[in-house]
Parts: sequence; C-alpha cells; structure tokens
Amino acid sequence: MTKVSFWLLGLVLGLSSCYYDNREDLYGSAGPCDTTAVSYTTHIKPLMDQQCVGCHGATAPSAGISLHDWASVKASVQGGRFVGSVDWQTGYSPMPKGGSKWTPCQISQLNAWVNKGMPQ
Ligand code: HEC
Repeated sequence: MTKVSFWLLGLVLGLSSCYYDNREDLYGSAGPCDTTAVSYTTHIKPLMDQQCVGCHGATAPSAGISLHDWASVKASVQGGRFVGSVDWQTGYSPMPKGGSKWTPCQISQLNAWVNKGMPQ
C-alpha cells in the first residue's frame, strides 16, 4: 500500500468510529419524540393517572388542584402553575412531588399539547 492509501484508511476508520446514527443511540428504545399528534387521552392522561391523581384526585386534592380528567387538567394549565411545576422551573413547586422529573420528550409533548389548545 502507498502512503496515501494508509492515510485514507486511517481517515475512514477515524470517521467511522464517530458514527453513531442508529435509532437506539439517538433516540433511546422508544424512538424519536413525536410531538405531532399529541392528545390528552394518549399522552397526558396516562401520566396523570400514574403520577398525579394519587394526590390531585377528584376529592380533597392537594393544594385544591384536581387533575383527574381533561377539564380539570386544562383548567390547571390555564391557571398558570401546571407547566412550570412539571418543568421544575424556578418559583414553582416541582411535580410530581417526591417523584422524578418528566423526560425531555414528555415535557416537549406537554408543551406541544398546550400550544395546540389542549385537545382531548
Ligand atoms: C405526593 C403528592 C403529590 C403528587 C404525587 C403530585 N402533587 Fe402536585 N402538589 C402536591 C402538594 C402538596 C402541592 C402544594 C405545594 C407543595 O406542597 O409543594 C402540590 C402543588 C401542585 C401544583 C401547584 C404548584 C405551584 O407551584 O403553584 C401543581 C400545578 C401540581 N401540584 C401539579 C402536579 C402534577 C402535574 C403532578 C403529577 C405529574 C403532581 N402535582 C403530583 C402534592 C402532589
């Protein structure tokens, strides 16, 4: 092999070692974050039921904030404290209380849902 072909071989190997564009590495096992067709029923309700309704149920909810159905979640978002709490922004009480923060994808989906007018 000539000097040039060694150089090329090194270049190709060097570049390929930085090449990680498979689906798992880029997006995790769940695939890319889809924010196009977000709805209460598909994206928001399951998280409410798992993480919020235990404290913010229909009866005697914590802080007087009920999150048990579409109308109550919508009202809470419109009240202005919901997104900041879930996004753990300064000046808000981080939610879910005692739990872990939503993933960046879940927060993107929440923002997309709010921007679309919170479809059911
Ligand atoms: C373990 C009980 C508990 C869980 C679980 C919980 N909350 Fe709360 N939440 C509270 C309490 C108590 C408060 C009153 C503020 C405080 O004590 O931090 C509150 C306050 C809030 C507020 C008002 C925060 C503010 O800064 O004004 C929002 C909005 C809220 N919760 C949304 C949620 C959402 C959304 C979830 C699920 C992702 C959730 N909470 C899960 C107990 C809980």
